[in-house]
Amino acid sequence: MPSYVITGGRGIAYEFAKQLSSKPENHVFTVVRNPDAVPALGQLAAERKNLHVLKADLTDLPALKQAAKDVAAVTGGTLDVLLNVAAWLSSDVNSYKTLSEFEGNEEVLAKDLRESFEVNVVGVIYVTNSFLPLLRAGQTKKVITLSTGMADPDFNYRANQAQAGPYTISKAATNMVNSKYAAEFADEGFKFLAISPGLVDTAVPGTTMNDEQMAGVMKMVAGFKKAFPDFSGQYISPTESVNLMLDIIDTLKPEENGTFISHHRNKNWL
Ligand SMILES: NC(=O)c1ccc[n+]([C@@H]2O[C@H](COP(=O)([O-])OP(=O)(O)OC[C@H]3O[C@@H](n4cnc5c(N)ncnc54)[C@H](OP(=O)(O)O)[C@@H]3O)[C@@H](O)[C@H]2O)c1
Repeated sequence: MPSYVITGGRGIAYEFAKQLSSKPENHVFTVVRNPDAVPALGQLAAERKNLHVLKADLTDLPALKQAAKDVAAVTGGTLDVLLNVAAWLSSDVNSYKTLSEFEGNEEVLAKDLRESFEVNVVGVIYVTNSFLPLLRAGQTKKVITLSTGMADPDFNYRANQAQAGPYTISKAATNMVNSKYAAEFADEGFKFLAISPGLVDTAVPGTTMNDEQMAGVMKMVAGFKKAFPDFSGQYISPTESVNLMLDIIDTLKPEENGTFISHHRNKNWL
């Protein structure tokens, strides 16, 4: 049975869990920091015997090692695909500030940078190292890490994306984590991929943005249109994004090991 571990329990992670567990032949494990906070996932797991919810924070190495043991107990010590989806994403007003706008308030910026690195860089390494022994014993040896086009410096500049420093700086480092692992394990037949999912609507229903956040989103989208004049300005659904990413993951080629691509399998991030 093909086996998948997904970090995160809502947004894109939930959609991966839903689509992958719709095939009864798959074993799907989600790793979430608080199962009570993702009732939709719990409901789905109650309906599908091949979907399991495990509890671990990405910053908690012992909990991640235990999650790997729990997966091994079901799969017989193997794992085929690891999907690093969970991430630290600040939606508060700080994420719409430019680096210079923290002038005089640098400790807030430093805290955001530390938190984002803790989850998006250290956490991804903790998860990957915890599941490596299982992946080594697996059939396909794929490790997919969700990144963002905003971590592409050339695109970032062309699209005037001066805001969201801590998140995008940490994701640029995540891309290097992907490249480091790819270089280390290519000879063992592993395939490591950093993939951007597009601009995806994962807002929690019922949440609203204040004026400052809304202005930040408008500015971000205007920059995207400058870099990609054909971009509609619309978010895509998690279903569409995950459909496109699963097509790529299912057909991943050895020469794509270590690359950083979009849901379109190229550098078109939108
Ligand atoms: N949505 C987009 O447009 C977009 C664009 C580019 C890239 N991405 C990337 O795609 C991925 C998924 O994005 P999304 O929009 O689905 O995000 P999301 O809806 O905000 O979900 C983030 C998930 O990460 C989990 N998480 C955060 N910190 C964690 C920690 N310390 N330990 C364990 N889990 C933790 C959250 O858990 P809780 O439920 O407990 O909070 C949540 O399940 C991310 O890597 C993101 O960077 C998204």
